[in-house]
Amino acid sequence: MDFALLLLSLWALAGTVSLQASGTAGPCPERLLGEERRRTCPRPCKTDKDCGNKRQCLCDGQCGLSCVAPGRTCPWPLPPSENSVTRLLSPTHSFSALLEVRCNPGFTLPSGLDVTIRRCQGDRQWSGDEPNCTETQKPTPQGAQTCPLPEEVLDTFSIQGSAAVGTSIRYSCLSGADIVGSSENFCQDNQTWQYPHPICQKVYCLPPREVEQGYVVAVQKTEYEVGFDIHYLCKKNYLLDGPQKVTCLSNGSWSAPPPYCRARCLIPAERSRVVIGGEKRWPFDVIDAMVPHGENVTFYCKHPHKHCRFNATQTCFDGALYAPACYLEPTWLQYKLFPHRLISEIDPCEPGYVE
Ligand SMILES: *[C@@H]1O[C@H](CO)[C@@H](O)[C@H](O)[C@H]1NC(C)=O
Ligand SMILES: *[C@@H]1O[C@H](CO)[C@@H](O)[C@H](O)[C@H]1NC(C)=O
Ligand SMILES: *[C@@H]1O[C@H](CO)[C@@H](O)[C@H](O)[C@H]1NC(C)=O
Ligand SMILES: *[C@@H]1O[C@H](CO)[C@@H](O)[C@H](O)[C@H]1NC(C)=O
Ligand SMILES: *[C@@H]1O[C@H](CO)[C@@H](O)[C@H](O)[C@H]1NC(C)=O
Repeated sequence: MDFALLLLSLWALAGTVSLQASGTAGPCPERLLGEERRRTCPRPCKTDKDCGNKRQCLCDGQCGLSCVAPGRTCPWPLPPSENSVTRLLSPTHSFSALLEVRCNPGFTLPSGLDVTIRRCQGDRQWSGDEPNCTETQKPTPQGAQTCPLPEEVLDTFSIQGSAAVGTSIRYSCLSGADIVGSSENFCQDNQTWQYPHPICQKVYCLPPREVEQGYVVAVQKTEYEVGFDIHYLCKKNYLLDGPQKVTCLSNGSWSAPPPYCRARCLIPAERSRVVIGGEKRWPFDVIDAMVPHGENVTFYCKHPHKHCRFNATQTCFDGALYAPACYLEPTWLQYKLFPHRLISEIDPCEPGYVE
């Protein structure tokens, strides 16, 4: 430092500095050893007379005016570099010659620039550090744009497809759990995803409601995995009303509500014939005098004014079958003594007389 200050004051006294640095326009900088990366600088000088023969007092970069042998050369050609192209800007590679190092597209120097100039120094070395061109960012092709995939998404899912604009990806949960949300996503022009990222969650179905008078053909569990089937059977004399099977869906719902097991109905008539399934029958001729759930039973009623009959149909619903209001159960005597005069046995009313 003292030396630099000395030089500075010497120049200040001299008033002018001889500018012999070839190829550079400005004044030669003072030798500032504190900033000099080179280990050694040639002997400082003010004029050629300060140097021995064969040496000249030339500007040697940050070494300032130094005694150098101008014929000395720097290494050339340089070994090829993977990520950059080196080009000599001067006709020779001797002292003060300039060299350009340009990084390949997509690569930059630690400075952030993609090009640097090196100068052949008095110590026969090219100035500056060995250029190190490194990849600018992720290896995205020029102009290609992608949608962001945050770390936590990459940690949660295995992702198939590309995150580039205009393409789509598919998610699958690494944990093997089920995907809740859209399992496919599309990278839009403005580099946003069309849907929110899904989540991984174990999906299961809760036990469905119990079916009275029915059996569940499945192991009873507190929760059922997706795809699990439950089959239903009804007890004897009960009719299945609804699906025979329900499946646990991927959204945690059952494919259908569970069925009902519907009871048979006792025919609410004894001494009249009724029509069941198109057949006119005495109730006691029907097994257990009962009809299954959903069966239609047609009763006969007497015309209020005429001596003829009309019919009224009722449907058995889960054990409930009511005789129509117009129906009158014959007495035991009527049934025993005048069976052919029972309402179910007389002639039907002429069409149009009914009501
Ligand atoms: C170049 O830079 C990279 C990253 O900064 C570093 O890992 C590598 O060691 C450097 N190579 C040289 C030759 O300095
Ligand atoms: C991106 O584009 C989509 C569809 O064109 C649009 O719905 C969405 O609002 C846009 N988002 C932003 C942040 O611009
Ligand atoms: C579950 O999925 C089925 C079939 O896709 C649908 O009908 C049902 O409404 C869904 N349930 C819920 C709770 O989202
Ligand atoms: C009973 O009658 C209703 C209405 O007329 C009809 O839809 C249904 O199919 C009938 N049921 C049977 C078991 O015949
Ligand atoms: C009930 O009465 C109507 C009209 O008279 C007739 O068409 C129909 O066949 C009758 N049904 C039965 C089951 O007797």
